Amino acid sequence: MSDSVRIVEVGPRDGLQNEKTPVSVADRIAFIEALIGAGLHTVEVGAFVSSKAIPQMVNSDQVLRGVNHHPESEFHVLVPNEKGYEAARAAGAKVIAVFASASEGFSRANINCSVAQSIERFKPVVIRAKADGVKVRGYISCVLGCPYDGEVKPQAVVDVAKLLWDLGCYEVSLGDTIGVGTPLKARQLLRAVAGAVPMASLAMHFHDTYGQALANLYAGLEEGARVIDSAAGGLGGCPYAPGATGNVATEDVVYMLEGMGIATGVDMPRLVAATNQVSGLIGRPPVSRVAAALNAKRAIS
Ligand code: HMG
Ligand code: MG
Repeated sequence: MSDSVRIVEVGPRDGLQNEKTPVSVADRIAFIEALIGAGLHTVEVGAFVSSKAIPQMVNSDQVLRGVNHHPESEFHVLVPNEKGYEAARAAGAKVIAVFASASEGFSRANINCSVAQSIERFKPVVIRAKADGVKVRGYISCVLGCPYDGEVKPQAVVDVAKLLWDLGCYEVSLGDTIGVGTPLKARQLLRAVAGAVPMASLAMHFHDTYGQALANLYAGLEEGARVIDSAAGGLGGCPYAPGATGNVATEDVVYMLEGMGIATGVDMPRLVAATNQVSGLIGRPPVSRVAAALNAKRAIS
């Protein structure tokens, strides 16, 4: 497995979208700058969604404008519909992410429409993005279970993945939104979806609610997947997935990969410093085990 893995840092979006304490535009920009400084060059920085639904992501246009001067970095923003696309484009977005669900219950709760309707909404967005030279990533939520519908069959994920791929998404990110997956199920899922979308174009977006995310990632790596979404400090969750905790922590992913001989280009002390910076703002310590271990080690040395 000693090849490369691409990390998509989602802390500033998936992480902060679920925090009760609002984080200012200036602090969000400083967090993103710190992540870039740590070597994370693909960062999801905001969402162009309803401010009533997700107040934490308000002023994502200012955040994107504030970091867009880094030519070596790629910034992603969530876009649910044409209104969001127009705002994202006006702010200079070069990569957007549309987000569907493998389950109807979550689709309704999250974006107020059925799965089929969401795909219809994405069609004009993708057409416009293509014409503008904007790359489109596609998310699928609830790939290993849904907080509303319960079990989700791999075939439901395969069907949505195929729709997003055929629409023109360059990558499909598989979201275990509520972190219920276990390694064999994650492996079977990746195997099934790879029949519709090339493995190289699949990302693993695993939340760590039940402490399985690293094990699930390892199973996915063995299967050949090479893109990992993670959040500094293990920040995050989704307001429409009650009880779900954050994404797998970037520190924990980097520690595991480096330990396996897979270079990530991430400077761990600088990453932990970025995490500590945002932890101070939201008023709670990082859930990342590696960040906690390194902070404890520093405290006694
Ligand atoms: P809706 O109510 O069906 O939309 O919401 P609407 O078209 O009827 O509009 C209702 C209001 O929203 C109107 O404003 C619109 O202008 C406004 P009002 O007239 O009431 O003042 N609106 C917008 N405002 C800003 N930006 C927009 C936009 N569109 C409409 N783009 C909508 C549909 C999708 C907008 C809404 O349900 C929404 O924003 N939901 C939030 C979804 C979200 O961000 N969820 C969290 C991210 S998903 C996630 O975390 C999972 C993921 O991490 C993967 C995983 O872990 O599984 C990606
Ligand atoms: Mg997520």
